Amino acid sequence: MIDIIKAKKTFDKHIKKYDMNNPKIMVKYKHSLRVSDLCVRLAKSLHLDEEKTSLIALIGLLHDIGRFEQIKLYNTFDDQLSIDHGGLGVNILFDEGLIRDYIKSDKYDEIIKKAIYNHNKLEVPDTYSEEQAFFSKIVRDADKIDIYYIVSNRDKTYKYDDESITEEVLDCLFRKSLIDKTLAKTDLDKMLITIGYLYDLNFTYSYEIIRTGEYVSSLFNALELTENKSIKAFNYIRQSLKDDFNI
Ligand SMILES: [Fe+2]
Repeated sequence: MIDIIKAKKTFDKHIKKYDMNNPKIMVKYKHSLRVSDLCVRLAKSLHLDEEKTSLIALIGLLHDIGRFEQIKLYNTFDDQLSIDHGGLGVNILFDEGLIRDYIKSDKYDEIIKKAIYNHNKLEVPDTYSEEQAFFSKIVRDADKIDIYYIVSNRDKTYKYDDESITEEVLDCLFRKSLIDKTLAKTDLDKMLITIGYLYDLNFTYSYEIIRTGEYVSSLFNALELTENKSIKAFNYIRQSLKDDFNI
């Protein structure tokens, strides 16, 4: 059985080895704690038992453990420019047995490895077992919900013109298909990718959290669009989201 309170203390100790004055470290530390809590909320909505709930809480807590090393080594969150932080997280936890500080038994190792490795990939591969895919999907949703929370709570407005949108990114969103993060060239593209996450959530309760938090409205309110094409595109997207998700 996983003792999640103890696991959080172990995690705190691990993170304190990094520069806590670096805002990037703090952002990911708080994100990890919130994602763990969101995993628990999702687990409860899915009526998971105590053992599975604490397992997903642990996966949520550790899903971004690679981020801290990534920041220390490269000072960027950009995997393209540095390293795949999902894979790095798996190496950190499993290469030297750090995972055993969090969970004594190795019976969930494959689920933990796969969920952490996959959380930042475009999709869950069909080679995953049903159980591996299930836990992966919970942490993927929790991660995306928290990204919504972070982005919508930035006290900023963003000014964009037509030049700020990359056609391929917009096309994916119009087609309601997953958007490959590597297509993003501008800040507005990144915003569109976040919006596109709505087409990649797995659980009804995830939509409910985003709806209740009014994250999508805050995101749209933060935009200041200055040209015709971008205004039209965003009006269209806003309406699609209302139609598709009542968000
Ligand atoms: Fe991540």
